[in-house]
Amino acid sequence: MATTERETELRSPSEPLPPGATLVSKKRGFWAWINERLPLDEFIAKELTGYFAPKNFNFWYFFGSLAMLVLVIQLVSGIFLAMFYKPSAVAAFGSVQYIMREVDWGWLIRYIHSTGASMFFVVVYLHMFRSLMYGSYRQPRELLWLIGMVVYFALMAEAFMGYVLPWGNMSFWGAQVIVNIFGTVPFIGTGLTQWIRGDYGISDATLNRFFALHVAAVPIILLLLVMLHLVALHQTGSNNPDGIEIKEHLGPDGKPLDGIPFHPYYTVKDFVGVGVFLVIFALIVFYVPTFHGIFLEKANFEPANLLSTPAEIHPVWYFTPFYAILRGVPNKGIGALLLLLALVSLLVLPWLDRSPVKSIRYKGWISRLMLTVFVISFVGLGYLGMQPAEGIYIILSRFCMVGYFAFFWLMPFYSRFDRVKPVPDRVVYHAH
Ligand code: HEM
Repeated sequence: MATTERETELRSPSEPLPPGATLVSKKRGFWAWINERLPLDEFIAKELTGYFAPKNFNFWYFFGSLAMLVLVIQLVSGIFLAMFYKPSAVAAFGSVQYIMREVDWGWLIRYIHSTGASMFFVVVYLHMFRSLMYGSYRQPRELLWLIGMVVYFALMAEAFMGYVLPWGNMSFWGAQVIVNIFGTVPFIGTGLTQWIRGDYGISDATLNRFFALHVAAVPIILLLLVMLHLVALHQTGSNNPDGIEIKEHLGPDGKPLDGIPFHPYYTVKDFVGVGVFLVIFALIVFYVPTFHGIFLEKANFEPANLLSTPAEIHPVWYFTPFYAILRGVPNKGIGALLLLLALVSLLVLPWLDRSPVKSIRYKGWISRLMLTVFVISFVGLGYLGMQPAEGIYIILSRFCMVGYFAFFWLMPFYSRFDRVKPVPDRVVYHAH
């Protein structure tokens, strides 16, 4: 087939298209018919077989695709739950019991969805930690990181509203506490909380709007954001454990010397991650779905009751690091400000890191120490946020808060002065 400037035929599946060229499918029949109308071949050639990813990806690079898998699991299981769930203060708790006891396989669908919520955060926290280790948030990937952060905020909103839906006692009191945080906003606080709740307290109106947002609005936003996240990723190309830009070393054919086609090499590798993940997921769903009161809390097995406050009110584990910050100081307003600052610190991270190198592999001992301090502080806050807000727990929370904020706000200084190791020209790869 003759090729023109605008049309070209791919000679090998991994060959990227020259700039400005469109693909003419070699296939005939139905596939050709589709491709004349929808550029599927072109998409595959550009974004899968022609997307060159660094050859030194390790275990940490599983979590992006796993996050996409959990998103799909949540959407599918959520659709089935919505077929039987009733969003009303009178019927919600009962409808969840009905799903658990009467609906065929209802217990499985519900446990998949509740386990999926927690596993989403496990996966996303590991995904974010990978970015911290390898400096994936840094130039030129700042926007990719920012979009990721917006995904994280949307995920938090989604999980929070989902947790209210079973209308258990922790749903009710947790919602009370979280919505009240907005009451600390100066001047408009009271009005704002009423606007969010649609009532003077958490009520049927609140449950209805949380249902609408949880099943429709936020999932759509999440899907769109994840798409943008991937578009931004493909624009800059992936970072890697060495923090070296593979686009800077191209071969004579114009392809990165240290890159390999995403498909089939990483699609196959990701399937290994998916397999291991699904085994762990199934073990939790079938053997410890409440995860000892951490994934599904004890108080939520009782219906919402305005007259009976649970002994300890705290949100689910994935929010407790921030919850510990919120209540770590006696003044509610300052607590809310610190909570905001904790999130903003993550947002502005790309502009705090002044190190000449990206990856922790080549950073010096101060950066390594500070990253360790951050992890201990974050996990510590997560644990402390589940404990009673008193005595030693509060004191330890304050130490962890110092560790958390020091990691971010001292970074402009320590990242500049910390001694770095020489970064090799090409990525380091040891075949297994
Ligand atoms: C629903 C949630 C998310 C999904 C489905 C998702 C998906 C992905 C995928 C598929 C990749 C490429 C594979 C990989 O690098 O693991 C990726 C890369 C990346 N994501 Fe996410 N992501 C999510 C949330 C986040 C969050 C919350 C952040 C951080 C705020 C983030 C930051 C990044 C960064 C910086 C990269 C590039 C990493 C590198 O190239 O080293 N993502 N994401």
